[in-house]
Amino acid sequence: MRLTVERLGHLGDGIAAGPVYVPMTLPGEVVECDIAGGRATDLRIVTPSPERVTPPCRHYRACGGCALMHGSDRFVAGWKAGIVSRALAAQGLEAPIGTMHVSPPGSRRRAVLHGRRTRKGAVVGLHGRASGTLVAIPDCRVLHPALIACLPALAAMTEAGGSRKGEIALAASATTGGVAIAATGGKPLDQSLFSTLAALAERHDLAALWWNGEAVALRREPAQVFGAARVVPPPGAFLQATAEGEAALVAAVRRGIGAAPRVVDLFAGAGTFSLPLAETAEVHAVEGLAESLAALDRGWRGASGLRRVTTEMRDLFARPLLAEELNRHDAAVIDPPRAGAEAQCRQIAASALPVVVAVSCNPVSFARDARILADGGFRLERIEIVDQFRWSPHVELVARLAR
Ligand SMILES: C[S@@+](CC[C@H](N)C(=O)[O-])C[C@H]1O[C@@H](n2cnc3c(N)ncnc32)[C@H](O)[C@@H]1O
Repeated sequence: MRLTVERLGHLGDGIAAGPVYVPMTLPGEVVECDIAGGRATDLRIVTPSPERVTPPCRHYRACGGCALMHGSDRFVAGWKAGIVSRALAAQGLEAPIGTMHVSPPGSRRRAVLHGRRTRKGAVVGLHGRASGTLVAIPDCRVLHPALIACLPALAAMTEAGGSRKGEIALAASATTGGVAIAATGGKPLDQSLFSTLAALAERHDLAALWWNGEAVALRREPAQVFGAARVVPPPGAFLQATAEGEAALVAAVRRGIGAAPRVVDLFAGAGTFSLPLAETAEVHAVEGLAESLAALDRGWRGASGLRRVTTEMRDLFARPLLAEELNRHDAAVIDPPRAGAEAQCRQIAASALPVVVAVSCNPVSFARDARILADGGFRLERIEIVDQFRWSPHVELVARLAR
């Protein structure tokens, strides 16, 4: 069959009439292929797009971690901006999209890798493109060098405590003390496995290692620096994916909040925004995970020169902050998970809050929530895209809304 790729789907695959999914292609490209189950196979590119580039990673074809390495940076930036403006347009909204902050290669400081024992040892990596097979990624162009350097440690751990039937999830984060690993899904921890893993943490100079939630090694403090505070987030907890992305998000949030003296930080995590904002404002941090809030609070108590930060554990889907509670503040930051924050945004719309800075990793749920805020009298002033997930189809944004 000869097909022309019309557009990219939300996972970055090319789509031709049918629809037929044509992986690793770009709009306008003409391809020859077979078709099986709505997907192109045995693909040959007849007319390449002028935006096509040579993928900079030798694992790209096999590994499912990246989807857009075959497109130029300019193309990917335009595609991501298009996703945001189309999601807004579907809700009858529009906004100027400003600077795009793209994290550099080799900057991903938090990743969940997978490990499986094999006949000969272990394989650690990511799932393959359109397959469940694990692909080893020793030259990954996305991961921070500190995470690349710990791949042999992850393989040794998998060999010691993995099984050939199931996979271990290995959440690795670069911290001030070195790499911290939280492994789940491995064999139960007995005395012999504990000793083996503790010795591995020593030999590979890990900052910390947790196995199925239990601490095996805490050799150096696995901290993050949020503004003037040092915070030790709970094992495997949320952390912005790159330091550069976090810096761009924090800067955009600071700009959006301005001089507001009392700020409420909704879905605050371990304080990525609360603690920098506390340099100039009193902050009330609200979050569902008690351990993250405890880490935030300890970080605040250990820092000097910050204004007051209070914390509140609350399920913001089931029990959003009510309009009258929001009215005690001058501005809100909101950074929900992918599902967005519909119930919370209804309360913000009914409140007297003058400014909201929204951080979102899902343009569709963001646009739905922005519509609710717009119906409550907010104007969507501007959007910045922060691309921490280079070469992936993920899109992250910061928006300022004001009455
Ligand atoms: C995208 S993260 C943002 C965290 C933080 N703002 C940061 O930048 O590090 C979303 C946060 O929402 C929290 N969360 C998820 N569901 C929640 C809920 N129903 N109520 C309150 N918090 C929730 C998660 O624990 C996580 O910390």
